[in-house]
Amino acid sequence: MSARRNSQAALDIAHHLHPRTDWRAHEANGPVIVSHGDGAEIVDVSGKRYIEGMAGLWCASLGFNHPRLAKAGADQFAKLGFYHTFAHRSMDVVADLAGQLAELAPAGLDRVCFNTSGSEANETMVKLAWTYHTARGKPGKRKIISRDRGFHGSTIVAASMCGLPVMHREFGLPLPGFIHVRCPDHLREGQPGESEEAFTARLAAELEQTILAEGADTVAAFIAEPVIAGGGIVVPPKGYFEAIQPILDRYDILMLDDEIVCGFGRTGNWFGCETVGMKPDMMSVAKALSSSYFPISAVIVSDRVYQAVADYHAGEQFGHGFTNSGHPVGAAIALEALKVYDEMDLIPEVRRKGANLMAGLEGLMTNPYVGNVRGRGMMIGVELLADRASRRRFDPALKLGARVEAAAASHGLVVRSMGDILGFCPPYIVSDAQIDAMVERLGKALDDVTPALRDAAGAATPV
Ligand SMILES: Cc1ncc(COP(=O)(O)O)c(C=O)c1O
Repeated sequence: MSARRNSQAALDIAHHLHPRTDWRAHEANGPVIVSHGDGAEIVDVSGKRYIEGMAGLWCASLGFNHPRLAKAGADQFAKLGFYHTFAHRSMDVVADLAGQLAELAPAGLDRVCFNTSGSEANETMVKLAWTYHTARGKPGKRKIISRDRGFHGSTIVAASMCGLPVMHREFGLPLPGFIHVRCPDHLREGQPGESEEAFTARLAAELEQTILAEGADTVAAFIAEPVIAGGGIVVPPKGYFEAIQPILDRYDILMLDDEIVCGFGRTGNWFGCETVGMKPDMMSVAKALSSSYFPISAVIVSDRVYQAVADYHAGEQFGHGFTNSGHPVGAAIALEALKVYDEMDLIPEVRRKGANLMAGLEGLMTNPYVGNVRGRGMMIGVELLADRASRRRFDPALKLGARVEAAAASHGLVVRSMGDILGFCPPYIVSDAQIDAMVERLGKALDDVTPALRDAAGAATPV
């Protein structure tokens, strides 16, 4: 490492407060400083290459240096580097993007509200849900129900909707009125011998009981990721959304669909709601919208919600929006990303590559501590278990997943450990050879950690 590189690490340690990072561990270990991207790979300043099995943070769907996205951004910067969308202002690229998203989204969702982050998009859905009910004479419908292990962002309301203790702990969250129900994880939450169908029925009954206990006239909306991402790649059990939708309808509760990870092909359909049979009133999208080359997100709203809110605000303004809502550079890059998706025939491509990755990862189940491999499309989780048959888990304090993640990095693979679940969400442009290499490198990482897994299995705690 040159002196300059050393000094960048030192500057980072001295002055850069990292999100979702253990600051004391950062002082001790320092940063991985990424220098550049090469398709689905990143290269650090020491020249070490990694296949980015997580597309960064579930986001760089077209890899890390796509020339067409770079050009679309540069061209737009040169033409109009900023304008806003408040008070009837718009731009050619922003109007085009709204039109394309309305066309792409499931039938009935056709009004697009731009934001800059996933958290903002989810908060926007909450404000729209509150306004919708107020507009219909039900201002008491305010509470939001979400699921344990769901992730919806880091701002105060978005974090309140998360079902992860790390997002609440020292902040006094969730705010009052943010209610959580059981995670639809059959592996962890299913009772011994309980079928997926029986588990679904139990979850639906629990949801209804929660609504009734809270008072149906106080509940505004239910929010869910079609497939839970950051909570550990949880695919809902068979019939889950079909079972809960009528309950929400019965009590006049909106379905908010967080597609921030699942949107734009990730689960093998354009939107995750199609994969899991969800019927949203609104959906939030971000990340793959621009391959995260620009901070742009959006909420796509049903006509029913739009009409109610528009009537309510007629003669006044909707009191919400951000300086960079509908930024022209983000819009130009997103338009280009959508064009690339179309030209690469995205959905069959994701299904084929996802099936190959899944088959490869399932092959690693020859290791007895690879307890479960699941996912949809190119979003796959590998769960370590002390005992596959009894679903016995390792003691979380041993942080064995993090050890596999570190071993994988040493072999040139980025995966994300979510406890003892290792997540894969690679860029769609990953090559077939890179898919094979990801599997091989995870296999090597598991081999490295297997002695520790074997030792820990003796002392593992039950589910
Ligand atoms: C499902 C989901 N929703 C919302 C968010 C929040 O997005 P942002 O970090 O852009 O606010 C994330 C981020 O990872 C996410 O995975």
